[in-house]
Amino acid sequence: MNWKVYLSDIDLTQKEIQAVTKVLKSRWLTMGEVTQNFEKAFAKFLGVKHALAVASGTAALHLALKALELKPGDEVLLPSLTFVASANAIVYNQAKPVFVDISSLDNLNISVEDLQRKITDKTRTILVVHYAGYPADMVRINQIAQKYNLAVIEDSAHAIGAEINKKKMGTWGDMGCFSFFSNKNLVTGEGGMLVTNSDELAQKLKLLRSHGMTTLTWERHKGQAHCYDVVELGFNYRMTEIESALGIEQLKKLKKNNTKRERLTKFYIKQLKGVSQIKIPFLNYPHQSSFHIFPILLGKGIDRNRFLEEMKKRKIQTSVHYQPVHKFTYYQNNFPEVREISLPNTEYVGKQEVTLPLHPLMTERDVIYVCNSIRKIIK
Ligand SMILES: Cc1ncc(COP(=O)(O)O)c(C=O)c1O
Repeated sequence: MNWKVYLSDIDLTQKEIQAVTKVLKSRWLTMGEVTQNFEKAFAKFLGVKHALAVASGTAALHLALKALELKPGDEVLLPSLTFVASANAIVYNQAKPVFVDISSLDNLNISVEDLQRKITDKTRTILVVHYAGYPADMVRINQIAQKYNLAVIEDSAHAIGAEINKKKMGTWGDMGCFSFFSNKNLVTGEGGMLVTNSDELAQKLKLLRSHGMTTLTWERHKGQAHCYDVVELGFNYRMTEIESALGIEQLKKLKKNNTKRERLTKFYIKQLKGVSQIKIPFLNYPHQSSFHIFPILLGKGIDRNRFLEEMKKRKIQTSVHYQPVHKFTYYQNNFPEVREISLPNTEYVGKQEVTLPLHPLMTERDVIYVCNSIRKIIK
């Protein structure tokens, strides 16, 4: 489809091409010096002690939960309004996902009240998602975690560069998980990062990332080691040097591009003022967002499918974030208790949310075109 306004697009230039070419010419393609440099730069950017590059955001979530050594039946609290990977990572670890509602139609992040209600003696972990890049209430969530002795993992896939009181998201919990999938604020194609301030967790995560092996191919290549032992049942969740080279260049422009996203978001809000059938969440949000996506909520009377079709006719690419995870067949079949739960705000957003185009290559003219189209469709 030849879209007039794309949902997302990437700021890729000659810089990335040169960086990738340099890696190819070096003839060392997997987890070596370039990846170490990316990890260092990422840790510095976040202000965190350890950053470990991994194969995807899903891999980061899988390993973070694995490092907690959950037992079958242990419960992990998470919002149902998230990408399915957040919940899948819990199931990979034989733990049970317990779905929590979002705060309101103004704040689409996990409800601290509902979260507290759902704590049982089997609860071990809170998996927070910073929806659309707007930080969840980590101050209160960490207080609850401390009170009940729970670990906190931040799914920060949307929230690279977002912060509360100048402290970056991903560094508030025990571990932070990032995704560099192609639609994210920082892209490496596939890829992700796991961050933590704990030396002990970092050591465990490093082993789990690479088959539980005590030395890496890179170290053996450099002549620093000959042999290795295998001390854990790990995975191959390594990142390539090609991805890391992209990541280093992308990180350099992240701040500039997040600011561009912020400007466009504010311009959208101005342009949509007075369109009464539409609600814009996160208005006057108290924390710094990374402005990953721009979600709107259609009023009850608007048929979303028809709305999306009309946008498509005008060559505007849109999306939905998200279909609630607890409504998916797999979760209904394998966790029968989710058939009974009611998450009213999540379910409303699941039916009426529309994600409008937002990316650093967009112009104000694009925003005007999208908003004028919305006005016409709704009329
Ligand atoms: C909220 C959220 N969690 C997890 C993921 C999984 O990341 P990845 O696609 O890199 O595996 C994504 C990205 O798609 C996401 O948006």
